[in-house]
Amino acid sequence: MKHTLTIEYQEIEHWNLLPSDEIELVNKAFSIAKTAYAPYSNFLVGASLLMDDQSIIVGSNQENIAYPSGLCAERVALFHAGAIYPDKKIKKICVVAYGDLFEKEAWLTPCGGCRQVMAESESRQKDPIEILLVSQNNKVLKFNSVLDILPLAFGKFN
Ligand code: THU
Repeated sequence: MKHTLTIEYQEIEHWNLLPSDEIELVNKAFSIAKTAYAPYSNFLVGASLLMDDQSIIVGSNQENIAYPSGLCAERVALFHAGAIYPDKKIKKICVVAYGDLFEKEAWLTPCGGCRQVMAESESRQKDPIEILLVSQNNKVLKFNSVLDILPLAFGKFN
């Protein structure tokens, strides 16, 4: 039997066209990206989470001379939220980055490990998490759920 998976997502010309709660989320992600410790890649990543009480949790990538010991911005933010606010739900995740790793037009999409951790948060809270990815030329991709960027995720999916 042959199956086809389709995902829907939105492309927005500039993040300043987003609704005000999302603009704040983008601004918070840009500010926290400045705290990235990224001396090895010089790629600064910021992640911000909009929680169900409207508070915002942030994280930036933290590298290590033993490369695999470092952690991506998304996981720093997600694990921080899990540790401090285990009962709050995450409504939206925003990821921004800057550096020369990719050309300015490239879409910045989370790595597989971060997608898996996002999938766990989504399945744990039983509510979808919207994902906003901001490229270095300020364009936005908006997804309705983690499963849209990690179809057939390990764990429960439908
Ligand atoms: N990085 C993130 O913070 N998030 C991702 O989704 C992918 C990559 C970080 C890891 C490393 O510090 C730098 O970006 C270059 O890979």
